[in-house]
Amino acid sequence: MKENIYEYKILILDFGSQYTQLIARRVRDAQVYCEMHAFNLDLKKIKEFSPKGIILSGGPASIYDSEAPMADKLILDLDIPVLGICYGMQYLTHILGGVVAKAEDREYGSATINIQDNRDLFHGFERLDKEEVWMSHGDRIDRMPEGFASLADSKNSPIAAMGDKSRRFFGVQFHPEVAHTPKGTKILKNFLFRICGCEPSWTMASFAKQTIRDLKETIGDEQVICGLSGGVDSSVTAVLLHKSIGDKLSCIFVNNGLLRRGESQEVMELFKGHYKMDIHLVDESELFLRKLDGVTDPEEKRKTIGRAFMSVFEKKAKELGKAKYLAQGTLYPDVIESVSFKGPSATIKSHHNVGGLPEVMKLELVEPLRELFKDEVRQVGIELGLPKDLVMRQPFPGPGLAVRILGEITRERLKILRSADVILLEEIRKADLYEKVWQSFAVLLPVRTVGVMGDERTYENVIALRVVDSLDAMTADWTRVPYDVMARVSNRIINNVRGVNRVVYDISSKPPSTIEWE
Ligand code: XMP
Repeated sequence: MKENIYEYKILILDFGSQYTQLIARRVRDAQVYCEMHAFNLDLKKIKEFSPKGIILSGGPASIYDSEAPMADKLILDLDIPVLGICYGMQYLTHILGGVVAKAEDREYGSATINIQDNRDLFHGFERLDKEEVWMSHGDRIDRMPEGFASLADSKNSPIAAMGDKSRRFFGVQFHPEVAHTPKGTKILKNFLFRICGCEPSWTMASFAKQTIRDLKETIGDEQVICGLSGGVDSSVTAVLLHKSIGDKLSCIFVNNGLLRRGESQEVMELFKGHYKMDIHLVDESELFLRKLDGVTDPEEKRKTIGRAFMSVFEKKAKELGKAKYLAQGTLYPDVIESVSFKGPSATIKSHHNVGGLPEVMKLELVEPLRELFKDEVRQVGIELGLPKDLVMRQPFPGPGLAVRILGEITRERLKILRSADVILLEEIRKADLYEKVWQSFAVLLPVRTVGVMGDERTYENVIALRVVDSLDAMTADWTRVPYDVMARVSNRIINNVRGVNRVVYDISSKPPSTIEWE
């Protein structure tokens, strides 16, 4: 019998909370498949999705705002368990005839709840137990709708959790999904397993197995083209496809002259040498560097590279013959971004990658990773036997070193940056920081400063080091790299990289800065 990893599904309706993605993460970590959709998802689509439970997220609005987001109230007639979190709980209360009180003050931060009922949602807790939770709300519940009973209270929220067991509707005023609610996962798991009756079937081993099978069925005897960048997402995509359809997959790896040192050889050795894939190295570094000649504006650089990439890729794909599909390593956060509560976010930087290719080439897309978060992709990579070095690789932007050389891009400047980058990464690895930080890289600045080397005055380049911690690249903080590591990096760069006489450390967080400098 075919096991089905999508048998138990949870639907998360997003009312705009900054934590909604975290809810999804927690549910996935509990090995239950879930999807996030905008709060106003069509009822028909909800029925088609056929979830075992619905979670209503928090959100910044007050239920009394004229524009307060409202889900279709018929979701409450589907005989599906519902958990409302914060605003989601207030929505439930409001729709079912209870009263939400407009609060004078916001309650924000840690709070203690007293558990009154330790069945269902608080199964496994002690009655009258005090538990630490994270609150972040304005309004609170004044009167529960008919059929509900209070399950927990706190000093500022007499009804910190409530439930209607017969209809299987529950609400919590606090955020079980954040780390500041230490036992939040237990509460969510109670909802998933005890209340919705889910079973933990979403594992990356079963995902890989099922996806390989499904891809074979969808693709049949057609040809597929895949752009490999050497990053985790495109590598996992390619290996999944290769295991599924073998030689019907052709990969194209473009050397745009903007890669890190040794990258092109490494990719070829692994995929051609080890996996024996049909992979084509297209070395167009001359062309990219010619087109970038004299270009200094960051957006212009990105667009120039994007255009060149499209034309190179298209030409090579044509040469390879008739493909029906283009495989891409799109991940779930990219998908959510375009459907989320706030709608597509403003373009701050043009991420080119392979955006316009399918239309130009009249290809259909295959995106086997579009349901996965980054760490799930890494897990799939491990299941598929990809080397750990590759699976744990830090993100590297599509436009490559071009956005890390401020001002003009020349061969000489690329050489300087590559040398500095190698040293930084070596030291970060030696200090056991490579997998702990989100990204670590060097940036070459378009200024020169005065220095002294031996008895000589120097007038040379500045390298900036950027090391950041982040969960999803949406926000980031600069890493407090130990001084002795910084000292070693700086010494080695200044002593060994010709053309550099100063190293600085970037201490900006995102926002208001971004991770890359351009
Ligand atoms: P920023 O600089 O916007 O970067 O804070 C967020 C994350 O995205 C990566 N990045 C890119 N990735 N194509 C990509 O595939 C791009 O054009 C691109 N630009 C930035 C960046 O390295 C960071 O991880």
